[in-house]
Amino acid sequence: MLKKKLIPKVSLISNSEEETKLCAQRFAGQLKAGDIVLLQGDLGAGKTTFVKGLGSALKVSSKKIVSPTFVLMNYYKGKLPIYHFDLYRLGNPKELDSLDFDDYFYGEGISLIEWPERLGEHKPKKYYLVEFQHKGEHQRQICISCPSKPQPRSSH
Ligand SMILES: Nc1ncnc2c1ncn2[C@@H]1O[C@H](COP(=O)(O)OP(=O)(O)OP(=O)(O)O)[C@@H](O)[C@H]1O
Ligand SMILES: [Mg+2]
Repeated sequence: MLKKKLIPKVSLISNSEEETKLCAQRFAGQLKAGDIVLLQGDLGAGKTTFVKGLGSALKVSSKKIVSPTFVLMNYYKGKLPIYHFDLYRLGNPKELDSLDFDDYFYGEGISLIEWPERLGEHKPKKYYLVEFQHKGEHQRQICISCPSKPQPRSSH
């Protein structure tokens, strides 16, 4: 399981929605302002469920956390501001040009991004990657890595 200290890659099997939330809660311990988490996986793989777990660790009411269906981003006020993006319905990465990503990505909050493949040129350089794979009706493989370790905020 995840340890407090960052390790390069963690892979685990979750057997329920609750286990996925618990995994997210443990991961939340290492998040700090300015961090970006890319959540990658098929429809129904557990990305929003993971966001709910992160949210509860960061003191956001889980009722508030829903898929941002009609907007690209939901904002939640918790211990830190949380910007929850869902880019599934994005037609073209150009639609993102009007968003000032720097404000979200490198501000005071944490950015959580579902369907990050659609970020195009807006994909950040430093991020945590959480990958979800269906293994069965209630089973998901969750793999957390940090392809490029986020740097302390002062070095952005
Ligand atoms: N081990 C598990 N972890 C997470 N969700 C699970 C698990 N087992 C079953 N589920 C179910 O799978 C669904 C996951 O839905 P969720 O909205 O989190 O997926 P998603 O990856 O955000 O999908 P989308 O791409 O549509 O936004 C929920 O209905 C949840 O109850
Ligand atoms: Mg979702």
